[in-house]
This record gives sequence, C-alpha cells and structure tokens, in this order.
Amino acid sequence: MLKGRKKRVKILVTGGAGFIGSHVVDRGLADGHDVVAVDNLSTGRKEFIQDALAHPQFSLVEADIFTQPDRLTEVMAGCDVVFHLAANADVRFGLEHPRRDLEQNTIATFNVLEAMRANGVRRIAFSSTGSVYGESSVIPTPEDAPFPVQTSLYAASKLPGEAMIQAYCEGYDMQGYIFRFVSLLGERYSHGHVFDFLKKLTADPNRLHVLGDGHQKKSYLYVGDCIDAMFCALSNATDPVNIFNLGTDEYVEVNDSIRCICDHLGVTPELDYAGGERGWIGDNPFIFLDCQRIRSLGWAPTRTIRESIVHTVDYLRSQPWLLEARS
Ligand SMILES: NC(=O)c1ccc[n+]([C@@H]2O[C@H](COP(=O)([O-])OP(=O)(O)OC[C@H]3O[C@@H](n4cnc5c(N)ncnc54)[C@H](O)[C@@H]3O)[C@@H](O)[C@H]2O)c1
Repeated sequence: MLKGRKKRVKILVTGGAGFIGSHVVDRGLADGHDVVAVDNLSTGRKEFIQDALAHPQFSLVEADIFTQPDRLTEVMAGCDVVFHLAANADVRFGLEHPRRDLEQNTIATFNVLEAMRANGVRRIAFSSTGSVYGESSVIPTPEDAPFPVQTSLYAASKLPGEAMIQAYCEGYDMQGYIFRFVSLLGERYSHGHVFDFLKKLTADPNRLHVLGDGHQKKSYLYVGDCIDAMFCALSNATDPVNIFNLGTDEYVEVNDSIRCICDHLGVTPELDYAGGERGWIGDNPFIFLDCQRIRSLGWAPTRTIRESIVHTVDYLRSQPWLLEARS
C-alpha cells in the first residue's frame, strides 16, 4: 500500500462516516481499493458518504466497535489494512463523562487490534492527537519530545491506544502508523472552534462569547492535506512502528481566527471573553507541532491556516443542515 503499487487492497475504516474517516473512504475508493466503513453513526453522517454508498467497491457496516467486537472481527475478514478513526473525538466534555474516553478510545482500540489479530491483518493507521503532548516544554513539539503530563481524559485515553498498537506491532508482527494530528478543518468539518463561532455568529452577529482570553495559540491542518499525509506515510515509511505529527508550520491565536471569520462574514461583533489562559480544563494554550518527519517523506500542506478557515466557513455556509445538526 498504497502509492506506486498497483495492487488493489481491502481497507477497513472505523469511523468511516465521520468528518475525517469519510475522506479516507473517498481516497481509498479513488485509488481503486475496496473499502468497508464500520460506523455506529453516533456523530458520523450518511450524507458524508453519499458518493461512496453508490460505489460498487464500498460497503457500510452499521456496528459499534466498543459493544460489538465479534461483529467487528467478522467484518474485518479479508482486509489488508485498517484505518482506525472511530473515537469519542470531543475533547472538551471529557470530565462530564469520564468513562466515555476510556471505552470509546482505549478499549475500542484494543477491540480493533484483537479483531486484526484474529484475522491476520497486519497494518493499522491510527488517529491519535497532538493533545498527547499536554503542555509541552518544547515548541514546536517533535515526536520524541520529553514524555508529557496528560491534561485531558481524551489524550489520556489516546495514549494507551498508541501504546497498545506499539506492543501489538512488537508482539504480533504488525505494522503501525500513529498520526498525531493538530485540529483539522475543511469539508465535512462538524465540530471545533470554527463550527462553534459560525453557529453563534449566525444566531447573533453582534455578540460573540469566547472561551478563554483569545490568546490561545493553535495550529490547524486542512483535512485533504491530512489524508495525503497519511497515505504518503503508508506508502513510504517502513518501520514496524511509525509515528508522525501532522500539522502546518504555523499557528494562530484564537483572536486571529475570530478576525479571519468575522472579516469573511463582514460582521463586527462585540467580543465577550470568559477569561483565563485556557478555554476549558485540559485545553492546551499552545499547540504547535514539529512536522519535519512527515515532510522528509516529501509531503507538504497545500493550504495555510487562514485559507483553511475561510474554506471551512464557506463549506459550512453551503451546508446549513450540518450547522443545525450538532450543538
Ligand atoms: N477532528 C480533529 O480535529 C481531530 C484532531 C485530532 C485527532 N482526531 C481524531 O481523528 C478521528 C476522527 O475524528 P473526527 O473529527 O472525524 O470525528 P467524528 O466524530 O466526525 O468521527 C468519528 C466517527 O466514529 C464513529 N464512531 C464513534 N464511536 C464509534 C463506535 N463505538 N463504533 C463505531 N463507530 C463509532 C462516529 O459515528 C463518527 O462517524 C478520531 O479518532 C479523533 O480523535 C481528530
């Protein structure tokens, strides 16, 4: 897999109806592969895989990878590679339901690895997060930064997922690709700060409530660039365990994002700051990843953060149903 080799493979995508997973599905089909998406449609949407559903090489299995491990094992038969994207991707509300991250992120990843082991599937690509670096003392943060203290249940549940993948690779001769993403933007984006700001500004263009003091510094990546990076890594990186940061070589303050969105919408709301360095408990006030490792494979992002924000605003305005669908 995948670039340069003509071989048609069978890809299983957990969370294949979600924001990022649906793009993996489209890319797999565009490259001529067979693709199975496994999704419980908790936050995923059939609208995101409308084109795929009409494709003869695609199937959707509506199943839950946490509560239905046997079904997952059955569906994985004959697959060559798994993109494991299903998760509770909501970082902010972890403390309201502390069991959810453990079940949906840690144990669900164990279920995926066990289903792979039962079927002899050797390759896994895993969506981890830049949040695993906590409040890193090294910025931009490389993959081998000093091991961090965890600040959110979300990241604390992703890190054991990474660790289990590494141990399965060592113990069961598998090959793992662990991707630590910054926040993603682009088509089918359905949660995050641009979504929240646009939703609020659509309801009231004269006032905007902002979590924190607006000086939080974050890096973002366009979803299309993220998919390219993942497929580039699977085609070119050959170690048993391959860990990559995925992001851009820039960051913006939340206030810059707000300015960009407001300028684009032509609104000048009064800004009402909640205050504090962090937007919520566990929010990292500065996320900026060193992405030299993935760049050394020839990958580079095609959009700046500002271009991605504007593109995402335009996308969401063209899909009012999506803005309404999630609170
Ligand atoms: N969006 C980001 O900015 C971002 C950043 C870093 C990491 N990630 C990670 O990338 C992955 C995808 O995130 P996303 O933004 O596309 O989120 P998403 O919520 O749009 O996608 C998750 C998908 O998984 C499905 N799902 C959830 N639990 C399931 C279960 N138990 N069984 C079957 N399906 C289940 C959902 O229905 C959804 O389709 C997640 O692992 C997330 O933690 C996302």
